[in-house]
Amino acid sequence: MTKKETAMTEPRPDVLVVDELVAGYVSGVDIIRGASLSVAPGELVGVIGPNGAGKSTFMKAMFGLAPVRGGSIRLDGEDIVGRAPSDLVARGVAYVPQTNNVFPSMTIEENLRMGLYQQRHRWAERFDAVTAMLPFLAARRRTRAGLLSGGERQMVALGRALMTEPKVLLLDEPSAGLSPINQGDSFERVMQINAQGVTIVMVEQNAQRCLEIVHRGYVLDQGCNAYAGTGRELLGDPKVVELYLGSLSRSSRT
Ligand SMILES: Nc1ncnc2c1ncn2[C@@H]1O[C@H](COP(=O)(O)OP(=O)(O)OP(=O)(O)O)[C@@H](O)[C@H]1O
Ligand SMILES: [Mg+2]
Repeated sequence: MTKKETAMTEPRPDVLVVDELVAGYVSGVDIIRGASLSVAPGELVGVIGPNGAGKSTFMKAMFGLAPVRGGSIRLDGEDIVGRAPSDLVARGVAYVPQTNNVFPSMTIEENLRMGLYQQRHRWAERFDAVTAMLPFLAARRRTRAGLLSGGERQMVALGRALMTEPKVLLLDEPSAGLSPINQGDSFERVMQINAQGVTIVMVEQNAQRCLEIVHRGYVLDQGCNAYAGTGRELLGDPKVVELYLGSLSRSSRT
């Protein structure tokens, strides 16, 4: 095999590797109890699990917002545990929280500018790149985010996070609280953004739809990895279907 062929076939190293993470808010109470995850460049990875499983806490720990007590989080091979969110943004991590993820009194454009506050010189270039993915944001750039629908706000939150051209984008429940039609649009958007080369880790409450679109998925239950595999493998696993996708999982959510 020539050198060029080797380079083409060798898998690229994972962008983000979380290993045996232990995290929680109150000392002595671990919410994340040894959860692991990895994401390769260009991958779309999903995390599903019942309410209160610790999915948001897992994301917050990766973004320096929840105290980590054990395990490691590596970004391009470097341990990032203990780093502040602003430092992580500078290093290429972007995060869209589950709630309160736009500045409602600011216009769309001002929200996008907030996303790029560390690299203001890139404004024109990044505005063009992000609005090519989300044209709505350019069309309505002077509209205040607080006046938008849930689905439109989600676009603003996504756009804000994409402004830095992140190495990895962490999305916490992008479809939460949206109408069924808007939920469908939300999944389409995430797929399209991933298809543009953006590496994504997505937490989702709509487990079925999530597993249909991701390359690989993890089932988080009580702070631990219960199952992992490709989206297709997880959808085909009777245990996953029974516990997390079937009537049992639905009844536990109501
Ligand atoms: N800021 C906090 N301080 C203390 N405990 C918290 C905090 N946030 C969440 N928890 C607790 O951590 C546990 C996991 O919550 P988390 O929000 O991570 O779950 P989740 O899987 O994202 O749930 P959901 O599906 O409802 O979004 C819950 O018991 C919750 O009460
Ligand atoms: Mg959550």
